[in-house]
Amino acid sequence: MEPPTIQTKRLEIRALTVDDAELFYAYRSLPEVYRFQQWMPESAAEVVQFLTKMHLHGFDAADTWFQLGLFLKSHDELIGDMGLHFLAPDNEQVEISFTISPAHQRRGYAQEAATAVMVHLFQRMNKHRIIALVDPNNNDSISLLEKLGLRKEGHFRKSIRIRGVWEDDLLYAVLREEWQP
Ligand SMILES: CC(C)(COP(=O)(O)OP(=O)(O)OC[C@H]1O[C@@H](n2cnc3c(N)ncnc32)[C@H](O)[C@@H]1OP(=O)(O)O)[C@@H](O)C(=O)NCCC(=O)NCCS
Repeated sequence: MEPPTIQTKRLEIRALTVDDAELFYAYRSLPEVYRFQQWMPESAAEVVQFLTKMHLHGFDAADTWFQLGLFLKSHDELIGDMGLHFLAPDNEQVEISFTISPAHQRRGYAQEAATAVMVHLFQRMNKHRIIALVDPNNNDSISLLEKLGLRKEGHFRKSIRIRGVWEDDLLYAVLREEWQP
């Protein structure tokens, strides 16, 4: 399936390409950005490798991540990204994650992008359930998930190893039949 291009008031949301690797790496390699995230790219070359593989398996392939870039419509600047994890085996559930470059945080971009992507997943792709996994100390992300209408469904103790340390993980989720944009 071709990846979508989604327009919101201020953003164009579209598949990242290898041309975006340097800028993506620039904000994804900042400690305040990767602090609560499992993936911390070691180099722009690693990002190129990831994006090349991503385009080979394509959009909506079960058991893969697909990374959409968030571009300011005003001057086509990459300011963040959303990861979509198409969950196996049925591929009717999607894990979402979001990252905004620190220079552009707290302006409503994550909420604007995530709402539009959730509309696409539920209304266009007919996905059954959207989930997110988040560190209990990641207050910005938790607040965003609650505003997006996801509900806390679980707290897993020391269930994910991040850079050698076992961390807790919260599970947030919402069903298509109950979600209202
Ligand atoms: C979590 C994250 C994506 C949020 O991105 P963001 O674009 O700053 O999110 P938003 O702007 O939509 O919302 C953040 C806050 O800014 C506020 N805000 C929105 N528009 C605003 C504006 N114009 N002026 C001031 N504040 C504003 C929101 O109300 C919200 O505040 P609240 O949490 O007190 O309710 C971002 O902090 C991030 O990238 N963190 C690092 C990566 C990470 O941990 N990702 C999560 C992995 S699951």
